[in-house]
Amino acid sequence: MDTYISLCVPIIVMLLCSTVFSTDISCKNEAGEPVDWFIIYKLPRYKIGEVGSGVDYMYLDSSVESWQMSKFTVNTSQGAIGKTLNQIYIGEAYKSNSSVYAFYNDAPPILEYIKGYGHTKGLLHFDHSQGFWLSHSIPHFPSFPEKGYRYPSSGKVNGQTALCVTYQYAQFLRIVEQMVYLFPRFYNCSVPGGFLADLPQLAQLCEGSKPPLASDKRVEQLFSIQGEKFASFVKSERFVDDIYTGWVAQALDVDLLVESWQREGHELPSNCSLPKHAMNIKRIRLPGSILFQSHYDHSKWCVSRAYEDQVTCLGDLNRERAQMWRGGGLVCSFNPLIYKAFRQVVDWYIGC
Ligand SMILES: *[C@@H]1O[C@H](CO)[C@@H](O)[C@H](O)[C@H]1NC(C)=O
Ligand SMILES: *[C@@H]1O[C@H](CO)[C@@H](O)[C@H](O)[C@H]1NC(C)=O
Ligand SMILES: *[C@@H]1O[C@H](CO)[C@@H](O)[C@H](O)[C@H]1NC(C)=O
Ligand SMILES: *[C@@H]1O[C@H](CO)[C@@H](O)[C@H](O)[C@H]1NC(C)=O
Repeated sequence: MDTYISLCVPIIVMLLCSTVFSTDISCKNEAGEPVDWFIIYKLPRYKIGEVGSGVDYMYLDSSVESWQMSKFTVNTSQGAIGKTLNQIYIGEAYKSNSSVYAFYNDAPPILEYIKGYGHTKGLLHFDHSQGFWLSHSIPHFPSFPEKGYRYPSSGKVNGQTALCVTYQYAQFLRIVEQMVYLFPRFYNCSVPGGFLADLPQLAQLCEGSKPPLASDKRVEQLFSIQGEKFASFVKSERFVDDIYTGWVAQALDVDLLVESWQREGHELPSNCSLPKHAMNIKRIRLPGSILFQSHYDHSKWCVSRAYEDQVTCLGDLNRERAQMWRGGGLVCSFNPLIYKAFRQVVDWYIGC
């Protein structure tokens, strides 16, 4: 009996500890604690009437009322993105065969730009239990796993956004089906043997080959680990249209205000030809009178114009002519807190 107890107590302590100090793969907040989702808005260097550092950012998750200025900068791993990615870098998860990781970016670090892939940026990391999907707008990011967390200097000039959502394993099977349409450029990837039966398409994509498509676009509902609903809209390059006007506004039946990076002479004007409209945002005002022109914002997001519709999407594509021929997508949320945060920063848009 005595032996039984003395063996048993350490086991119970171990079990308790592993529940409290969870090693579950997850999005992490600014304190390094697991969160269901977070969003960051990296501020541009050039604001109206002010030149900033280019590395400051605002943070949002379900525990805060609105955008919080971070006390960290995006080029250190102390903030939410760094703490989330350090599960791969410092945790060396990239050496493990019990989890999957996949970094993708049409403009990867160092390597040459190759045409033909989707205009999409992000990473997946999960095990058989759960993990996260981080999608963002930052070229040349994230750095190779063995390099540790680094933020590219090219990502400092313009505004950028990132959305991280924690999902159970089963949701990654759906996310991978979306990836087939996106056809991302995966530059660092590992799908260990234990995942191949479930995720043959991800393994194929990682090798650079393209699984066949049933259609030219696809929408899928996703539920985060806490049950928050998201809708993933993805199009392949075969759906030749502006994703905002030609599809998402009509599919969601809402007028959209779109913030995207538009180069002069290449931009699509605000469009009110179809039943639901897509209009270009020109100026953003974040809390604390942080005012900047869309010209210096490389992020890609949209909100419903009408407050009652409460739609916010973050994604991959600009309202730009050439991007009609690119794969890419949007992750849409119906969360009132996310909607308020984005809708209230729209300072000026071009109606039609
Ligand atoms: C982060 O970027 C700022 C502004 O460019 C720079 O002053 C600082 O040294 C950088 N920090 C790191 C750790 O790279
Ligand atoms: C995973 O790695 C461990 C330790 O290196 C090894 O013993 C095991 O056989 C590997 N499993 C698979 C499925 O490759
Ligand atoms: C990531 O990709 C780069 C470029 O191909 C390569 O040099 C590096 O070794 C890869 N890292 C890992 C961990 O596979
Ligand atoms: C508005 O967008 C639709 C769908 O992309 C397109 O067919 C139409 O030509 C556009 N209208 C104008 C005036 O650009």
